[in-house]
Amino acid sequence: METKLYEITSASDEKIKEVAEILKNGGIVAIPTETVYGLAGNALSKESAEKIFTAKGRPSDNPFIVHISEMSEWESLVEYIPEPAKELSEKFWPGPLTIILPKSDKIPLTVSGGLPTVGVRMPGHEVARAIIKECGFPLAAPSANTSGKPSPTKASHVADDLMGRIDAIVDGGESDVGVESTVISLAVSPPRLFRPGGITTEMLTEVLGEFTVDDAVYEKLADGREAPSPGMKYKHYSPEAKVTLVKGSFDDFRSFAEENKEEGTYCLLFEGEEKEISLPSIVYGRKNDPASQAKHIFDSLRTLDKLKAKKVYARFPESDGVGLAVFNRLVRASGFSIIEV
Ligand code: TXA
Ligand code: MG
Repeated sequence: METKLYEITSASDEKIKEVAEILKNGGIVAIPTETVYGLAGNALSKESAEKIFTAKGRPSDNPFIVHISEMSEWESLVEYIPEPAKELSEKFWPGPLTIILPKSDKIPLTVSGGLPTVGVRMPGHEVARAIIKECGFPLAAPSANTSGKPSPTKASHVADDLMGRIDAIVDGGESDVGVESTVISLAVSPPRLFRPGGITTEMLTEVLGEFTVDDAVYEKLADGREAPSPGMKYKHYSPEAKVTLVKGSFDDFRSFAEENKEEGTYCLLFEGEEKEISLPSIVYGRKNDPASQAKHIFDSLRTLDKLKAKKVYARFPESDGVGLAVFNRLVRASGFSIIEV
């Protein structure tokens, strides 16, 4: 199929009507959000959801997040909205937070991956909200990558994965946050964090007081344990290369990498460090600046694929604030391979 390309950076762009028309006709379109690009389709349509699963090559039990443009759309998609969920939405929407609640009958089981719950978020990118508004229905949108690849933070990443497989790509610039939204379930008590993201655990604590963090955020899902969030069980964010996280000072990192390098070994470093090491390197943000690491991590992993890196030694990110999200993505990219030096 021909994939149309649109460049839209403002909510008042006339082309938004054209994009909405494609979605109204049951098409699927990659749209920019502040976290990562999403592959969007009508969230109330089983057929659109099926097209998304096919284009991404995604396992059909992995649910989609449903995106809304106004608070009032939320109520009809879920069974109820408890007070703490309301407070979270008032504080953090529009923004990188997905709230899981029991779903209403409006959400097809295809969209919820067969689960009785649905995750909803209001994206911070004004073009995304304008497209949803013009459609008049919510949009189901998983990240717009081929299943298993790093999430796309630029329209060119989407094109690399999905050109010819989807109806259109809307280029709205590079995603600001760079990692996917925080996913928290309020369908259980106490609330449970399934995926760390731009809304940090510190920010959630301010509103919720108590909540639990699923073990799978830090560790590999225990053998035999059923994934509470289906995305946890799939190999995620995986570049072609074998990635190892190397924990220690830069000097120790450098000695380790130089002793263990082979042909096709690259380093994934913080800005500036590439000048002080003999191995070919890619940088992923500034040291002690988790927000800049989040913004660049997926682009850097994709660059390593383009360079055909075979082995990658990565600097260990800080895990406070949005750093927890960076750590969570990197440790999955590494298949939980960490070496302390
Ligand atoms: O930032 C984001 O969340 C991006 C943009 C496009 O909005 N979307 C995104 O979607 O990352 P996706 O499908 O790539 O990741 C959604 C994750 C998956 O791991 C999925 O298993 C989990 O959220 N999830 C979605 N609905 C769920 C539910 N009802 N219960 C448990 N986990 C759920
Ligand atoms: Mg994804």
